[in-house]
Amino acid sequence: MKNKCESPASEGTTAQPRFHQRAAEIQAYGTVNHLLPLELEETVRLEMAAQLNQLLADTMTLRDLYKKSHWQVAGPTFYQLHLLFDKHFDEQVELVDSIAERIQLLGGISIAMAHDVAEMTRIERPPRGREAVPVQLSRLLDAHQVIIGQVRTLARRAGELGDDGANDLVVSEVLRRNELQAWFLSEHLVDAPLVHAEAVHAK
Ligand SMILES: [Fe+2]
Repeated sequence: MKNKCESPASEGTTAQPRFHQRAAEIQAYGTVNHLLPLELEETVRLEMAAQLNQLLADTMTLRDLYKKSHWQVAGPTFYQLHLLFDKHFDEQVELVDSIAERIQLLGGISIAMAHDVAEMTRIERPPRGREAVPVQLSRLLDAHQVIIGQVRTLARRAGELGDDGANDLVVSEVLRRNELQAWFLSEHLVDAPLVHAEAVHAK
C-alpha cells in the first residue's frame, strides 16, 4: 500500500506538505559530538553534559513548582506572593534556557520533555492539590537547596576539568540567582508581628 504522505516520484517539486514523518534520531541522548572547536576533551564534555542535565531537570522542576505556587497560593499574602512566585518563575525560565543551551554547545543533548524531567529530578513531588503558604515556601526552599548543593559540586568539578564556561554559568547565573531567591522566600517564614510589637518583659 502506498504511504499517504509519499509524493509520486514523477512530481518533482510540490507544494504539498509532507505530514506525519518519523525517522531515526540524528544523535542519541547521552552522547556528544566528537569534534568541536572548543579545546575541551570529549570526556570532559560528556561529564559536563551529564551533570548539567541533572541540573536542568531540577531547574525545570523548580520552575514549574513556582508556577504551581503562583496559581494556587491563598491567604492574606496572596497578592505579594502571587507576584513574587511569577517573578522567580520568569528568572528560572531564563536559567533553564542557559543550562540547556550550554549542554547543546558542548555537543550534548539537553533533556526537554516533562516525562524525562519527572524521571530525573531529585526534587520531591508535591501533591496535585493546594497547600498552605508555609508549605509552599518550604517546598520551594527545599528545591533551592537541592539545586544550590549540586551547583557547588558542579562548579568545583567544572573548574578541575577546565570547563570555565560551565563554571562561570553555574556560579554567576545559577548559584547567584538561586541564593537570592532563597533569601526572598526565607524572609517570609520569619514569624514577625504585623501590627503589635511583642512587649519587652522586665527582668
Ligand atoms: Fe499568572
